[in-house]
Amino acid sequence: MFNPDQYAQSGLAAGCPAAQIENFIRAGIILQPRQLAASAAARLCDRPDGPTAIGYGGARGGGKSHWMLAQMGADDCQRVPGLNCLLLRKDGKSNTENLENLRRRLFPALKHHWNASRGILTFENGSRIIARHYQHEKEIDALLGIEYDLIGIEEATTLTQRKYSDLRTCLRTSKLNWRPRIYTTTNPGGVGHDWYHQTFILPCERGAESATRFIPARVEDNQFLNPEYKQILADCTGWQKKAWLEGDWGIASGKFFSTFRPGIHVLREFDRSRIVEWFCGMDYGFTHYTVVLLIGRDADDHLFVVDEYVARHAIPQQLVLGIKEMCQRQRLFIGQPNPRAGLCFQPADADRVRRIFAGGDLFSHRFDGSTLAAHFSTLGVRIHPANTNRVQGWAEIQTRLGDPAAGIKPTLFIHERCHHLLNCLPFLQHDLDHPADVLKTNVNEEGLGGDDAADALRYAVATRLPTIRAVKLRGF
Ligand SMILES: Nc1ncnc2c1ncn2[C@@H]1O[C@H](COP(=O)(O)OP(=O)(O)OP(=O)(O)O)[C@@H](O)[C@H]1O
Ligand SMILES: [Mg+2]
Repeated sequence: MFNPDQYAQSGLAAGCPAAQIENFIRAGIILQPRQLAASAAARLCDRPDGPTAIGYGGARGGGKSHWMLAQMGADDCQRVPGLNCLLLRKDGKSNTENLENLRRRLFPALKHHWNASRGILTFENGSRIIARHYQHEKEIDALLGIEYDLIGIEEATTLTQRKYSDLRTCLRTSKLNWRPRIYTTTNPGGVGHDWYHQTFILPCERGAESATRFIPARVEDNQFLNPEYKQILADCTGWQKKAWLEGDWGIASGKFFSTFRPGIHVLREFDRSRIVEWFCGMDYGFTHYTVVLLIGRDADDHLFVVDEYVARHAIPQQLVLGIKEMCQRQRLFIGQPNPRAGLCFQPADADRVRRIFAGGDLFSHRFDGSTLAAHFSTLGVRIHPANTNRVQGWAEIQTRLGDPAAGIKPTLFIHERCHHLLNCLPFLQHDLDHPADVLKTNVNEEGLGGDDAADALRYAVATRLPTIRAVKLRGF
């Protein structure tokens, strides 16, 4: 039996002002303790020195979405007439459907009009919640330039930091009695895991929150969750179990190469005299980046990625020049020896790049029957087809990274000058549909991101170089 006094008491204990609890009681909304804590944090945004962003995240099913709409609709929209709120979520139709379902359950006692085709919920005082969704981040651009008093983002780690920053520029108000703010809900993992962790969770863990407040969500917070759902979460394994059942952010990022340790795998210097053979991995692109990695192998089969060449919108002639320049800066020879110079110059194996391995696109036939690989060959650089099996390639990188914390030594090292690779490899995520594969990411419109450098590394490590002896016997 609902007891309003008891509810008011638990609201006050969570830090909610009495007027806020009255708003919820008037709407017939009973929030649970953790949700009340999130609402108390939302009210802190009213203060001139209070936060401007609230994060409510962690386990799945903790009651986050229910809270966000309750806070927006039953508290914020009711106390400030004409409030303009955006409720954003990734995925097709689900946001309008989601809002449709939730508003039926949450607002039967609050007069409102729901325009299903436009996804706009309008209260009697003119405050409104506009539901928008996106499949691809660039669709969010259409929302930029519009002014919102309040932005709610569901599943915020599906956004990159760039888009989150862009959205914050839409947060403006002309109302004297309102301070603009963002509410976010999310589970750990996803492309935005790292910025979300740094923006919301780290300040909370360090007790140093100023512009943000974070409320950790646990599955036990929600008494309305059916036990079967909790069992489904409990049956998950690995990082998903930690992330979705326990709401653990520390190791729950879904990072593919979780054993990567910058202090161990990234080198400032390396002993060039150890290298017995050199080769390259290449991922070709025109609108995407072309990335070529220069790799040396020592006699113990350790691999050292010592340099990278990265270009975008470059034609093969430019790429060949770039690749040769990279090799020259490492005092290496690439390409077929010039027969006329052959008598006086035959580079030793330790001074020449033996092979460049690249993915299938360089070998597919164009309209005239030629291939890009053949074009590169005429320019003096021979390209060889790589093993393009993604799962095998990632597994090989994983094995080579070892597990330093568990005493398994790495056999793959990357020089610190390889910025592109180092900005990519450690941040790759599991593809949740194919956990043994990496989630593909494309370069964004600013040219940032993308997994081209990791693909170049994959091609190189997953392809066996024929032994020098075998090559010599075959007269290559
Ligand atoms: N205070 C509440 N009163 C009644 N039902 C609630 C309450 N809080 C949550 N629920 C219900 O519990 C279920 C799960 O809640 P919700 O969808 O908000 O969780 P979530 O944390 O957003 O989940 P996910 O992580 O999957 O997005 C929903 O059916 C929701 O309506
Ligand atoms: Mg939710």
